[in-house]
Order: sequence, then structure tokens, then C-alpha cells
Amino acid sequence: MENSRRGFMGKVFGAVAGVGAVGTLYAMKKSWDPLPSVKAAGFTTVDVSTVEPNKLVVEKWRGKPIFILKKTPEMVAKQTEAETARDVIIDGEHFLICIGLCTHLGCIPAYRENKDDFKCACHGGEFDASGINTKAPPPSPMVIPPFNVKGKTVVLGEEGDQYRKMKEAGVLA
Ligand code: FES
Repeated sequence: MENSRRGFMGKVFGAVAGVGAVGTLYAMKKSWDPLPSVKAAGFTTVDVSTVEPNKLVVEKWRGKPIFILKKTPEMVAKQTEAETARDVIIDGEHFLICIGLCTHLGCIPAYRENKDDFKCACHGGEFDASGINTKAPPPSPMVIPPFNVKGKTVVLGEEGDQYRKMKEAGVLA
């Protein structure tokens, strides 16, 4: 009798705690990201199927802004090999996925749709649409976080095949 009562109370507390956690996650999701995504234990799964070409989307992963930019066919056609090597291919489309922090002193660069590039307002640094630094003072490209592509989603925080290939090719260095 005692045991079953404890079991029942345990279930009630479990249910209440569960509802609280879901409520918190929902509040976080609403304030942080514009795309359908699920956050759990350091991983963020983002559905990119509704991302418009040449429109920057900013997600959040482990407290950092993550830039997600779907490239237009024109952008892909004119880019260099080094730029293409940084592309994440999702469902046949080319994306830039990088941590949206300037590699100079950590400001968040702004995307300029008319120029296909990023401008950092802090000290005038610039990056191309692949996140490669094109104008000082940033010393290096914006960082590509660990990612894994699953169908039309990308899992931030998980090292998948494309990420490992970039690593082997020295793209992430
Ligand atoms: S922090 Fe971006 S140019 Fe200095």
C-alpha cells in the first residue's frame, strides 16, 4: 500500500516536473529562434526547409548566435573552390552555417543582402557569404560549428560526415 502510494506520488511529481520543463523549453524556443527547432543537451536540431535564399537566419546554439544562410544558384555559381569547400549541402542546396561572431573581437557581423557579404560594425571587418574574412581586422573566417545533416534538418553540436570531411580537408583550421 505504502509502496504503491509512493509510486503514484512519484508519477504525479514526474508529470508536474515534465510540464514545467516543456514550458521552459517552449519559452526559450519562442524567444530565440525563428525556425522549427528542438534543443536538448547541447544539441540544436533545426529544420531548414523553409529558409529563403539570401535571407540570413540566426539560430542559437550553446549561447552563441549561429548564422544560417541559404545561397542562391547565382551565389554558388560565382564562388571560389575555397568558398564552396565551406558549404553545407542540405537536400541539394548550399548553405553557410557558422558561428555568427567576428573573429576579431567577437561582435556580431550584419549580413548585406545586396552585396552577399557580412560587415562588422565594430571595426569595419568584412566576410564573404561563406564566412571567409575579406577585409581586416578579422584574422580568420567565421567558425563552422560541429554539425550533422539529417534529411532537411541540421543538428548543431553533432559531428556528421560533411563536418568530418571539412575537418580532414583542413577547411575548419
Ligand atoms: S570585432 Fe569585428 S572588426 Fe573588430
